[in-house]
Amino acid sequence: MKTMNMKTNAGLVLAAFLMCVGSRVSLAQTGTQRSPVAPTREQVQAVINDAYEKFKGTTEGKNADYIPALAQVDSKLFGIVVITTDGQVVSKGDIDHAFSIQSISKVFSLALAMEDVGSGQAFAKIGSEPTGRPFNSVEAVVDMPSHTGNPFVNAGAIATVSLIPAPTADAKWGKILNFYSKAAGEKLTLLEDVYKSEAATNTGNRALAALLLKYERIYADPLESVDVYTKQCSVGVTAKQLAVMGATLANFGVNPITGERVIKRENVPEILATMTMEGLYDGSGGWAWHVGLPAKSGVGGGIIAVVPGKGAIAVFAPPLDEAGNSVKAQKVIAYVADTLGLDLFSPRSVGLK
Ligand code: DON
Repeated sequence: MKTMNMKTNAGLVLAAFLMCVGSRVSLAQTGTQRSPVAPTREQVQAVINDAYEKFKGTTEGKNADYIPALAQVDSKLFGIVVITTDGQVVSKGDIDHAFSIQSISKVFSLALAMEDVGSGQAFAKIGSEPTGRPFNSVEAVVDMPSHTGNPFVNAGAIATVSLIPAPTADAKWGKILNFYSKAAGEKLTLLEDVYKSEAATNTGNRALAALLLKYERIYADPLESVDVYTKQCSVGVTAKQLAVMGATLANFGVNPITGERVIKRENVPEILATMTMEGLYDGSGGWAWHVGLPAKSGVGGGIIAVVPGKGAIAVFAPPLDEAGNSVKAQKVIAYVADTLGLDLFSPRSVGLK
């Protein structure tokens, strides 16, 4: 028994040492910062393999259909990717299928607005209060003192787009796509069929923009802002690209694959706080309670969750719950976070029992 313990201890010391060596090399190459209590690659691979097997048969939820193109997506697609802040990629399933980023885009447009106008202006002009209402709620715009609510509900997201400075709507769209591409470390493109489908059916978002105008809480032409917002939601991403975007946040703004700084370091805590409070809409409170990680969902079926200093997980599976959050993605992330002790509010997240 004693020998076994010694062997186990020696193994742990060696693993920790290897992690340190790995981290040093990566630190020198990319300026990344890896938490000393991050799990090893082998641990992560085993857990995501388990999660994939455990949840692949889940049949709850259904594809979004208020955007007709989303109803056409194969609801069996299922991919999981973890990317660590030292650039390791661990994956399982359909990780190269491009789907629309939808509301996950809101995180990166917030980041871009903060780069351009500063976090103080972004907070003053948009706010960051949970609405407790569906993401497209008109009532929230009327009832909330800020009217915009927060950058992740549709009204606040359209206002966030309006806040990004650019000479024309086309220039703004180019700037947004370029920013998302830097966060993903690859050139991203628009999914034309999704854009056309959403643009033909987004009367609700146009109404939200008109209402924001009434309250003087939109900062560029309302219809142009809705159009750019619709384009940003229709950007195609794979689960792998999304995981890199999440890992860029986990790595405090530096893309861990390209080594490029994308987001100002000082803006990352505020972005993560916003994801914690509002990332899953009226499911955010339950998510914080049960999972304890900043996350963001999209009606395309993606969710990213960020573990600061350690990495990010992206899951893609189209069927959604009532709040518009992927059912399988929530289950996978909850399972992985629990198994690896990642809940930020738990002592386990800092290596304590
Ligand atoms: O504006 C919309 O309704 C969609 N483009 C985005 C909504 C969304 O992804 C909500 N997420 N869970």
